[in-house]
Amino acid sequence: MVDITRRTFVISGAGLLGASLLPRAAWAGSMLSAGAQPALPSLPEDAALAPREQLLFDFGWRFAFGNGADPSKDFGYGFGQSDFSKTGTFKIATPAFDDASWHERDLPHDWAVELPFVHDDSGDDDTRLTSHGYKPLGRRFPATSVGWYRRVFDIPASDSGRRIWIEFDGAMRDIVLFVNGCFIGRHDDGYSPFRFDLTDFLNYGGKNVVALRVDASFGDGWFYEGAGIYRHVWLTKMDPVHLGKWESVVRSVVKDQAATLSLATIVENEGEQPVQASIEWTIVDASGRTVAQATSPAQSIAAGSPSHYQAAADIGNPALWSPDEPHLYTVVVKVVVDNAVRDAESVPFGIRTALFDPDRGFFLNGKPLKIQGTCNHQDHAGVGSALPDRLQSFRVAVLQGMGCNAVRTSHNMPTPEWVAACDRMGMLMMCETRQMSSNPSGLHQLELMVKRYRNAPSIIIWSIGNEEWALQEGDMAKEGARIAATMVEHCHALDPTRVVSAAVNGNNEQGVSDSLDIIGFNYHLDYPDAFHAKHPKRAVFGSETSSAIATRGEYKTDKSKNTVSSYDGVVPWGESPEQWWTFYGTRDWLAGGFAWTGFDYRGEPTPYGWPSVSSQFGIADLCGFPKDYYYYYKAWWTKAPSLHVFPHWNWQGREGQDIPVWVYTNLDEVELLLNGKSLGIKQVPRLGHVQWNVAYAPGVIEARGRRNGQTVLTERRETTGAGQKLRLSADRSEIDADGQDVAIITVEILDEHHRPVPTANNAIAFRITGAGKLIGVGNGDPNCQESDKAPKRSLFNGLAQVIVQSTRDAGVIHIEAVGDESTPSSIGASSLSIKTRKVSPRPIVAEVSSKGAV
Ligand code: GAL
Repeated sequence: MVDITRRTFVISGAGLLGASLLPRAAWAGSMLSAGAQPALPSLPEDAALAPREQLLFDFGWRFAFGNGADPSKDFGYGFGQSDFSKTGTFKIATPAFDDASWHERDLPHDWAVELPFVHDDSGDDDTRLTSHGYKPLGRRFPATSVGWYRRVFDIPASDSGRRIWIEFDGAMRDIVLFVNGCFIGRHDDGYSPFRFDLTDFLNYGGKNVVALRVDASFGDGWFYEGAGIYRHVWLTKMDPVHLGKWESVVRSVVKDQAATLSLATIVENEGEQPVQASIEWTIVDASGRTVAQATSPAQSIAAGSPSHYQAAADIGNPALWSPDEPHLYTVVVKVVVDNAVRDAESVPFGIRTALFDPDRGFFLNGKPLKIQGTCNHQDHAGVGSALPDRLQSFRVAVLQGMGCNAVRTSHNMPTPEWVAACDRMGMLMMCETRQMSSNPSGLHQLELMVKRYRNAPSIIIWSIGNEEWALQEGDMAKEGARIAATMVEHCHALDPTRVVSAAVNGNNEQGVSDSLDIIGFNYHLDYPDAFHAKHPKRAVFGSETSSAIATRGEYKTDKSKNTVSSYDGVVPWGESPEQWWTFYGTRDWLAGGFAWTGFDYRGEPTPYGWPSVSSQFGIADLCGFPKDYYYYYKAWWTKAPSLHVFPHWNWQGREGQDIPVWVYTNLDEVELLLNGKSLGIKQVPRLGHVQWNVAYAPGVIEARGRRNGQTVLTERRETTGAGQKLRLSADRSEIDADGQDVAIITVEILDEHHRPVPTANNAIAFRITGAGKLIGVGNGDPNCQESDKAPKRSLFNGLAQVIVQSTRDAGVIHIEAVGDESTPSSIGASSLSIKTRKVSPRPIVAEVSSKGAV
């Protein structure tokens, strides 16, 4: 969905609605919650407590492709009229159905990443396969756009009398759910969670069958979205008297070294008798110490009704949440009836204040904090959009490594694990909904997002949409203003503590912009100054900036190879890191901004098409390997001395030719040396870089960074010899044996002096044995069409990534790597072992040994 014309859209005259003249007070919010609670490290978000059970329903599914056009290839679905005509007769969800030919799959699962690439450039951006990263999804590809999932499971007789829900964190897309032959429900969008009450449909004391048809023929976005049940699934069992879903809310006001918490929740009585229920609130700190308690007195709740509860509690000297010190608390909420706990949950939260000031930018806990943000989609190398939880924290850490302190979840509601990782690790978030509309589904998506995540301290901005051309300034600007106003009001009602914004690619003078609490500009550095002068009481930030492009490790823009130079690649509507940060980083009244994007993502292979299959916008590539731009940000977004010289120094055949050598550093001056001979000293411009043209001679190029006349950092690039040896290194040497944790392995090739060869592109084969399995490979090359799932991968400019996942038996995972047949055997073989440790098992829905009919 990238084209140049939409950015050069001419804005005619003053806005239809005119500028907002309403005085806007500085927005203050203080709050709240969500993150890992230390006592339950394996449950990063809100956790069920006894007597509630929340069982992970990820293991042991069976999967088969259906068909979007031909019912005879879709297990007869839609062949006649019978699928929905009678309850209890839908055969795929009955024990008699034989799924022996279906494939075994654990969740999360994205089948799109398993598909071959298909070259289809028919039509325009909206119809061809570029956005899907050339994966065959859509109505023109019926054989690969529909998937069925099926699972047999036991429900013990003792569960009779409980309420039992199946809960999906999200699936892509258009699901129809059947249980025990009965149609249960539908859900369409691919990002919001959904749940169904199965209580009436279950076979207590026997086998049960769940079957889902997932249809990814339609998309929600214009970027790679994946296909299938790509987020976690849960089976939740509760007492009929229980807490409402995502109704427990903690808000805080911080004053004079103390926090006053206001606590609220809803109890639902799905029993047959009225009950007298009270709520007990216990607030514990990160070490598990109780720091406050409160009780909401008993109320009578009629059968079939909900009841609202409130309470207050004080915490003296609260440990405030911030990126530097992401302190979390947990509130344990218990529903008590006749002295017995009927339901309980633990809700992580944080205490902090957040304020957007139109003159002075963003303040966290009363201190100015520039938003050094990146926009991000949700897919990663090897796994598509089905990320194991650990990859979320891995990706947050990659971004933090360059000083990024905020992410925008463009352009959809994030996974709970991404939010939890940000809470736990101290990353701010701008949390965005997918559908910008006040229609029922748009408001429903928004409501779920706000209710689900309003306790997360990381979230500082709700975003109601991105670049809605018609609603911003097109023919529908008047309607856009009404739609946005309804959405903003809805957010405020659910969460009065946070600002609401939208990512607007325009002048923000009409349409959706009037009702926004803070104003977000996408690109267009020519707009914010004029807007600020005209609307000095409205706080402004960069909701999307930059769109710089680079191919990691490439230093020449070469259309014949679909590569983009790492020195200065940027799209016509974008800005280089230096351009946008020199703008946003030097105006105090701007709160900061979010660069497009932290990571490459599949689809939108700008500026090229086939054979490029992923974008080149990332500051890191699809695996998370940093590009050179990463170090520009590191220099200016972190305080510690930093210095990065590029390119590599393997330019055999270009002896005597000029090679541009750039240095990103936050030191005062840099001296560059070639083979020990000084090429001069240059002063580093603030927020800029220094560069030389160096006649290439093999050897060593060395940059010495000085501060106050003292050499503080030295970095060298050395001409390496040929690759001799493989090196495997893992992010961790021990992982959990829970069937979900992963080790992320970097593959490199070293020369005879153990120096990584930055130009190595050897094809490597892998063998994984023992207590784990391979779940994906990648190399960050936007033009690579090798399989993400095969046990082999070529290095791209010196690097490849292998992701291995533990089984549920503790042991050792052995990873062996060897040059495959196309690679000279001179690089030898290498191996690595990862231990998997026994952990207290996360409660799961036990697998039933039936294959096929039961
Ligand atoms: C923006 C859009 C993003 C992405 C980006 C590429 O306009 O919001 O989703 O398409 O352009 O530069």
